Amino acid sequence: MDRNLAIEFVRATEAAAMASARLMGRGDEKLAMAESILAMKAMIDSIECKAKVIIGEKGIFQGSSIEEGTEIGKGEGPELEIALNPLEGAKVCATGGYNALSLLAIAEKGSIFSPPEVYMDKIGVGPEARDVIDLRESPKENLNRLADIKKCRVQDLTCVILNRPRHEKLIQEVRNTGARIQLIFDGDVAGAISTCMPDSGIDIMFGEGGAAEGVMAAAAIKCMGGGFQGIFRPKNSTEEKLLIDHEISLDRVFDTEDLVEGDIVFSATGVTNGSFLNGVLFKPWGAITHSIVMRSQSGTLRHIKAEHHFDRKPRY
Ligand code: FBP
Repeated sequence: MDRNLAIEFVRATEAAAMASARLMGRGDEKLAMAESILAMKAMIDSIECKAKVIIGEKGIFQGSSIEEGTEIGKGEGPELEIALNPLEGAKVCATGGYNALSLLAIAEKGSIFSPPEVYMDKIGVGPEARDVIDLRESPKENLNRLADIKKCRVQDLTCVILNRPRHEKLIQEVRNTGARIQLIFDGDVAGAISTCMPDSGIDIMFGEGGAAEGVMAAAAIKCMGGGFQGIFRPKNSTEEKLLIDHEISLDRVFDTEDLVEGDIVFSATGVTNGSFLNGVLFKPWGAITHSIVMRSQSGTLRHIKAEHHFDRKPRY
C-alpha cells in the first residue's frame, strides 16, 4: 500500500473530529455522529482511491451513509478496504466526556474482517506482553503473566474495563488480584490503544464490547506491535445463528492477524480530551486537531498537530 495514503487519510479523521467536536456537550449524540459521518465521507470522497467500506456507519442525512458495502473515494487510484468509526464514543462527545475519537483503518482488498453484530470478549496489551496473553485463561492468570513480563507486581498494573453490569464478575476477579482498575463509561477502542501508549498508565484492557470496535482496536494495536484477542459471546439464539451463518465457532480466538491482515494504516483524531490525544480546540481563526497516524509495515507512529484555517477551507 502506498505509504502516502496515511497522510491523505488523516484528513478524514480530522474533518470528522472537528464536525463532531462542534457539538460537544450539547446532548445530541445522533447529530454529533451524523455530522461526523458527513464530514468523513466528504473528505474520503476527495481522496484518489476506490475503497469499499467493511465497517461503517449509517448516516441520517440523505446520501451520507457510509455503511458496510458502500463504495467510497474519488473512484480512481488504489483499490482499498476501509473500516471507519467517525465518532467512537458518541455519548461521550454529547456529554463532553473523556476519550471520544474519530477513527479509521485502511488496508488492501481482502484484509479487514467483517464481523457479525455480536459482542466480543476482548483483551489487549502493549508490545512486551503480546505473546503471553491468552483470553481463554482467567484475568488473574493474564495479570500474573503480564506482571512477570513487565517485572513488576500485579498491584502495579492498571486495567481498563468498560463500566457495565455485565462486567461485575470480571471487575471482582480483577479486584481480588490487587490490580488497579480504570473504569471507563464508553470507548473501549481508546482503552485498547492506551495499552500501547507508554505514558497512558494503562497496562491491559479486558471486557466485552462491540465486535466492530474489536476490529478497530486490533488494527491500531497491530500497528503498534501489541497483542489483541477477541472471542464472540452471543447473548441469545439469534446471535448464535449469526455466528453459525458466518461459520464462526464459539471457542475461536481471533487475534490481530485474523481481524486485520497485511499492511494496515490507522488514523485517530481526538474529539474530546483523552488518555493519549487531546480533543479539538476551536480558535477565532479555525481549529487545532491532534491525531496519530500509523502504519503496520513500518511501525511508524506519527503525532500530527494540525492548525485548520477556516477562511481557507471548510468551516466546521
Ligand atoms: P458507540 O460510539 O458506537 O456508542 O460505541 C461506544 C462503545 O463504548 C464502544 O467503545 C464499545 O465497544 C461499546 O460501546 C459497548 O457497548 P455497550 O454500550 O452496549 O456496552
